[in-house]
Amino acid sequence: MNKPDRWVIGNCKMNGSLASNADLLEAVRGKPASSVKVAVCSPFPYLNQVQRALGGSDVQSGAQDVCEHVSGPYTGQVSCAMLREFGTTVVLVGHSERRQFNGETSELVAAKATAALAAGLTPVICVGETLAQREAGHAKAIVAAQLSPCAALLVSSCANVVVAYEPVWAIGTGKTASPAEAQAMHAFIRAQLTAIDRSAASISVLYGGSVKASNAKALFSQRDIDGGLIGGASLVAADFLAIISAAGGAVKNSMRYV
Ligand code: 13P
Repeated sequence: MNKPDRWVIGNCKMNGSLASNADLLEAVRGKPASSVKVAVCSPFPYLNQVQRALGGSDVQSGAQDVCEHVSGPYTGQVSCAMLREFGTTVVLVGHSERRQFNGETSELVAAKATAALAAGLTPVICVGETLAQREAGHAKAIVAAQLSPCAALLVSSCANVVVAYEPVWAIGTGKTASPAEAQAMHAFIRAQLTAIDRSAASISVLYGGSVKASNAKALFSQRDIDGGLIGGASLVAADFLAIISAAGGAVKNSMRYV
């Protein structure tokens, strides 16, 4: 069984400018070599800048969303092929902010992930429950329902898919899931994936939600946490680099893959 890759992915959200991106990208490009896969997911208008700034480095360029259609009358949308032209290799699908503010359903998220895979992009399928859902005891059922429409593609393409668990109540709030809380949900997600197909055990499952340099190592040391999807802290070069370094140094407390 292949070990899941370790990833640290920055999600810039709707932040940045040509000037601030230039400084950030230069710093991230200069990160020490490591086995951790690193990507920066920028707003669409900056993908050209990112391509030029990261070209020839091992830091990947990512987007924050993509259209499920190949081309046509979809005003304001961006296709997978367009992303590919700008050197993009990774794309977030189903981020909770898109589910919340753009009404994206789990079926649409699965269609976007399928389109991304068909175009040779790595979709990062984002799932996670709200505080009300957690307090009602529905967190696992919600996450299972969000993953369910992706079941077929998780089986057929697991080598090229990443899953990110981002509890909505921990995003941008400073409230992080404790390492034990996060691990419990990651173990559940891993069990859901391997119930679909044993080979899905090699899918990387990342944690997101107020990850900081100070809590990254404790989170990434958990048995089923394979790295992080980082919002606010990815906008500060020193913090993002420290989180990447924590992912490289976190020692797993498990012999799962030996
Ligand atoms: P924060 O790290 O700012 O909480 O954001 C997490 C996130 O939504 C990444 O996609």
